[in-house]
Amino acid sequence: MADTAFLSDADFELYKTLIYNESGILFTATNRSILEQRLRDILRENKMAHVRDYYAKALRDREELKRLLTMVTTNLTRFFRNQPHFDAFEKFVIPETLNIKKPTGNYTIKIWSAGCSTGEEPYTIAMLLAEILPSPWKYDIIASDLSLKCLMTAKEGFYDGARVVGVPDNYLKKYFDVVQGGYKVKNELKSHVRFDYHNLKNDAGMRGIDICFCRNVLIYFDQETQTNIVNKFYDSMNEKSFLYIGHSESLFGMNTKFAFLKTEWTTLYKKG
Ligand SMILES: C[S@@+](CC[C@H](N)C(=O)[O-])C[C@H]1O[C@@H](n2cnc3c(N)ncnc32)[C@H](O)[C@@H]1O
Repeated sequence: MADTAFLSDADFELYKTLIYNESGILFTATNRSILEQRLRDILRENKMAHVRDYYAKALRDREELKRLLTMVTTNLTRFFRNQPHFDAFEKFVIPETLNIKKPTGNYTIKIWSAGCSTGEEPYTIAMLLAEILPSPWKYDIIASDLSLKCLMTAKEGFYDGARVVGVPDNYLKKYFDVVQGGYKVKNELKSHVRFDYHNLKNDAGMRGIDICFCRNVLIYFDQETQTNIVNKFYDSMNEKSFLYIGHSESLFGMNTKFAFLKTEWTTLYKKG
């Protein structure tokens, strides 16, 4: 039940509109309690009593607004999340991409992990590419998110024992250093991944992407925002490139030019 003493319906509307306009993330009656809880945490951190005061602060100060958006995002992720996606990556998407790119003479595969959270997704991709790419192929991964907090964790590349469950033992040995309290991604692997702040509501100006991962992100947006974001991906991708979205997400009924692709392991989307 909504706590209207803390967040009145009018204040909920204010926050809802601000967050939606700035990030595309949609709060409704169903997830209103999540917003309430996050606002309680923010107010405590800011030593403020009333949601209106914080709202005014977020409007005045762009950096505070970024912090608000960071606080309201949902960042659940894990290494090798949805293994069939990575089976298709290894056995189909990468071999296809090599065939497509070879005649161009460009031997660098460019991947975008959009909504990368704390880095598990781009590091999973990096480990797989380090394993399977034959010489002289190279790879660059651009990993972006709206959450500054997540990006800091991702850049640091430190994960405690519970978070590396799912990383095969041989990969753990090869691509992580054992450090106090957990594991840290080795610098060599990190050097292939560039983390950037990027709000998917805006155009990243990205071009030449061969494979785009935007998994478990679209789910937070309404259909209009989803369509805009997916069309921006389309513009940033090369001909005959691949798009992954989340296992429970779909482009069905959306006005996009991507073609649906069914592989032996999973479904994904293709440009051209
Ligand atoms: C549930 S996580 C998904 C992480 C990863 N892709 C995966 O599937 O495991 C969703 C991520 O999307 C990010 N996000 C939400 N809205 C965004 C926006 N407008 N621009 C960029 N990232 C956004 C959140 O900060 C969060 O880290």
